[in-house]
Formats: sequence, C-alpha cells, structure tokens
Amino acid sequence: MYLNVKKISKTINNRHIFSDVSFTVDVNELVCIYGKNGSGKTCLLRCLLNLTKMDNGSFFLKLTADQIGVCFQFPEHLIYHRTVQEEIASLVDDSDKALNVMEKANLKDKGGNSPLSLSEGQKRLMFILALMQKDKFLIFDEPLTSLDQESKKMIIEEMLAYKKNRGSIIYTTNRIEDIYFADKLICL
Ligand SMILES: Nc1ncnc2c1ncn2[C@@H]1O[C@H](COP(=O)(O)OP(=O)(O)OP(=O)(O)O)[C@@H](O)[C@H]1O
Ligand SMILES: [Mg+2]
Repeated sequence: MYLNVKKISKTINNRHIFSDVSFTVDVNELVCIYGKNGSGKTCLLRCLLNLTKMDNGSFFLKLTADQIGVCFQFPEHLIYHRTVQEEIASLVDDSDKALNVMEKANLKDKGGNSPLSLSEGQKRLMFILALMQKDKFLIFDEPLTSLDQESKKMIIEEMLAYKKNRGSIIYTTNRIEDIYFADKLICL
C-alpha cells in the first residue's frame, strides 16, 4: 500500500468541505476522486501534499518526496524553465524520454519556445507525459480537462499503462464519463 487515508475532514469558514474521507491507494492502482465543482477535490489533494492543513484524521504516505509527481489543476503553476525543452528535461532523466514526451505531446517544433506560450491543453500534456516517465506515485488534478478527444484517449491509455507497469495514480474529475477506467472511486 502506498497511501492510507483515515477519516480526514476539512472545514473552511465553518463550512464542511469534506468529512471523514477514508481510502487507500495500493501499488499499481488507479484511484479517481470524483465530485462536482467546489466539492473539495483540489482541497483534498492539497491536504495530502501538506499544502493545506486538515482539521481531523490522518494519512500515511509510504513514499519519499522524490517518488511523487504532481500535476496541479492549473499546470502553469509548475513552470520553472525558459524553454519547453528545458522544462521537460528537468522532469525526465534521459534525452530519449524527453523526445518521447515532445513527440506524444506534439511539441517537437516548440522546444525553444517558452512553456508559458503553450495552450492550456499543451501545458497539461507536457507535464502529465513528462511526470509519467519516471515517478512511482502520481497525483493529477483534473488531468483530462481541456484535452481534445484524441489527446484524452492517449492520456487515458498512458495512465492505464503506467498503473500496470510503473506505479499508482490518484486523479480527480468532475465528469462522470471520466470515472470508468479507475480501479477505485472516491465520491466527494
Ligand atoms: N482559500 C480558500 N478560501 C475559502 N474557500 C476556499 C478556499 N479554497 C477552497 N475553498 C472552498 O472550498 C471548496 C472546495 O474547493 P476545491 O477547489 O477543492 O473544489 P474542487 O472540487 O476542486 O472544484 P473544481 O471541480 O472546480 O476544481 C469550494 O467551495 C471553495 O470555495
Ligand atoms: Mg479542483
């Protein structure tokens, strides 16, 4: 088991965002957190990343920080480098893998451009595909949002291959059509 979440709760301004949420993430498991806008999906992930303090409950994460990859709901918050090529290189450990990401994300002619100049979907594809090259445990907030049909199908296939061969993924969605490929569903 990679993650064991026990009865965690979060209140903001005296309003319950979520209460007594418990679940586990096992090795090679794809876990979906599903809920409508404002139901607390991002807030729950922030609690698990120690970016927001929870009110009650506990969780145990059996991984070190370097084994965890995170793609936030707004991936421009992850941009640290001057060019797309440098951004990808900072996340993957060899040039073949970097090339693979550029090809799959259709960014081969954008290597010298600023990552900030990419569209929302292109930024998401770049980070998700790069993170899937190496980490053991991935946390993706709304990974399928703003992807075209072809890219969405490709990312779902990549996520399924990742969980079979490399590790586990927690992802969120507010769309019912995006829950069916998960092994486990947490409804907020
Ligand atoms: N810093 C904050 N201050 C006040 N309220 C907040 C704060 N952060 C989140 N909230 C509230 O917590 C609730 C959950 O927000 P959260 O962003 O987790 O929702 P979500 O399920 O991720 O929604 P979406 O599908 O739109 O991404 C919302 O009602 C939001 O208004
Ligand atoms: Mg959210």
